[in-house]
Amino acid sequence: MSALARRWLTRRARAPRALRATVALLMGTAALLILASPRSPQASGAATPPAATGSGGAAAPAQAPQPPGTGRSKFPEAPAPGERTVATPSSPTLLAEGRSLYEEGCSSCHGMDLKGRTRMAPSLVGVGAGPVDFYLSTGRMPLENPHAEPLRTTPLYSRARIQALVAFVSSFGGPPAPTTDPGAGDLALGLHDFTLDCAGCHQIVGRGGLTIGAIVPELQSATAQQVAEAVRMGPYVMPRFGPRQIDQHALDSIARYVLWTRAPSDRGGWGISNIGPIPEGMVAWFLALTALVIVARLIGERTN
Ligand code: HEC
Ligand code: HEC
Repeated sequence: MSALARRWLTRRARAPRALRATVALLMGTAALLILASPRSPQASGAATPPAATGSGGAAAPAQAPQPPGTGRSKFPEAPAPGERTVATPSSPTLLAEGRSLYEEGCSSCHGMDLKGRTRMAPSLVGVGAGPVDFYLSTGRMPLENPHAEPLRTTPLYSRARIQALVAFVSSFGGPPAPTTDPGAGDLALGLHDFTLDCAGCHQIVGRGGLTIGAIVPELQSATAQQVAEAVRMGPYVMPRFGPRQIDQHALDSIARYVLWTRAPSDRGGWGISNIGPIPEGMVAWFLALTALVIVARLIGERTN
């Protein structure tokens, strides 16, 4: 501690006692008001918040993850009748373009025949459009190291090239890509189902975290389409959810909730990035402690 700070902390109080008491009272009230006031409502026209908010919700226990990289494909759940799906693109030109992109960028790991290679990459025969669109549109594929967790990066391929690869891989079979209409979802149901099935790993407002053997991504960049694809296929150690666990309405609701978490209304007060109890504790320790020392110094008096 510098000599100056030490002098300030140990000097004799000079201001009159009444003034010091008033300042302390004002500062205390201001601190309480700041901590208790909700943030001004978001201008982005966020939907009405669900009954219970944010970080207070109970998180579901994390499901036990399967070991990654077992070399077996995880086939996405086939859509149930009446589920929303995306029409799979297909045309001779797309297929030809997809084939050459595949041979260049994917065949070294997934094999020329798409059947996968042991200890390298799973088979892509029958995975269908959803996983291909998900892995390419989130930049997870092409992977650099086949033994590392695929993480979101800037996509390497343009939308047109992704369509070509989707067309090519889907020509080997598999269901069409699932999709969702967040507008048709129910926010409160979304919060409920997200708390049950997703928050254990992704944190209640989708800020991500860690689970055994994997980094769990935050959900601040995923589109509604990617949410649907991730839920139905279960990338990496994430479990997949079929229409019997999460039906179309629940999926729409979860997608709506995930989009809502980007601008939650922090009704309890200050959100502090919504990452939970650790930064909240930090705020208590560092901000409140400093404030307390200053206030104590302002109102305190040294006795000789
Ligand atoms: C066991 C923990 C676990 C559970 C439960 C879980 N996830 Fe995941 N999720 C993950 C992991 C790990 C990844 C990253 C996969 C990867 O890197 O390939 C992920 C990735 C995602 C992504 C892609 C994010 C991005 O930006 O690229 C979305 C979207 C997603 N999950 C949504 C959900 C939803 C919705 C639920 C609930 C229905 C859910 N997850 C349940 C662990 C989990
Ligand atoms: C360095 C090796 C490597 C390259 C190159 C690569 N992949 Fe992969 N790919 C993997 C591994 C490893 C996995 C398994 C990841 C996991 O467990 O989540 C995988 C998984 C996938 C999946 C999910 C399969 C499933 O189980 O449902 C798809 C789809 C996919 N890759 C598509 C592609 C496409 C398309 C390309 C080319 C643009 C590509 N990959 C390039 C290694 C690779």
